Amino acid sequence: MAGTRTFSIIKPDATERNLTGAINKVIEEGGLRIVAQRRIQMTQAQAERFYDIHKERPFFGELVEFMTSAPVVVQVLEGENAVVRYRDVMGATNPEEAADGTIRKLFAKSIGENSAHGSDSDDNAALEIAQFFSEADIVG
Ligand code: CMP
Repeated sequence: MAGTRTFSIIKPDATERNLTGAINKVIEEGGLRIVAQRRIQMTQAQAERFYDIHKERPFFGELVEFMTSAPVVVQVLEGENAVVRYRDVMGATNPEEAADGTIRKLFAKSIGENSAHGSDSDDNAALEIAQFFSEADIVG
């Protein structure tokens, strides 16, 4: 494997605006390789499981509703220090705080509709990847 892996979601606000290719370009130019990718309609159960860590937060219901509102693109990204690298490529969660050239600065509409998700640790990356992909789906 070339480097490490992270898990990515291109969120409904981005797929609805036909931004999958534009976001993939930023990902690839940021030094990450898309080694698995699938467009899906997330179910409520999938979204609730994925965001279980946030279930006590006031925005949890809104988050699940948003993530199931339109298709998403789930991805595995590979590269040197992939988790940290992708967080740099995405920019801050709140697009108003995101650096120039990042996915969220370029495309996000708000802190909730922020175009992309990326894992926050190697351990969570492995868990999140396993929720959507089997090893045979991932081709580096
Ligand atoms: P993500 O990386 O997908 O992980 C949790 C998500 O919760 C986060 O990106 C945001 O999109 C969302 N989120 C965080 N804070 C808020 C908020 N205050 N209101 C709505 N959504 C939020």
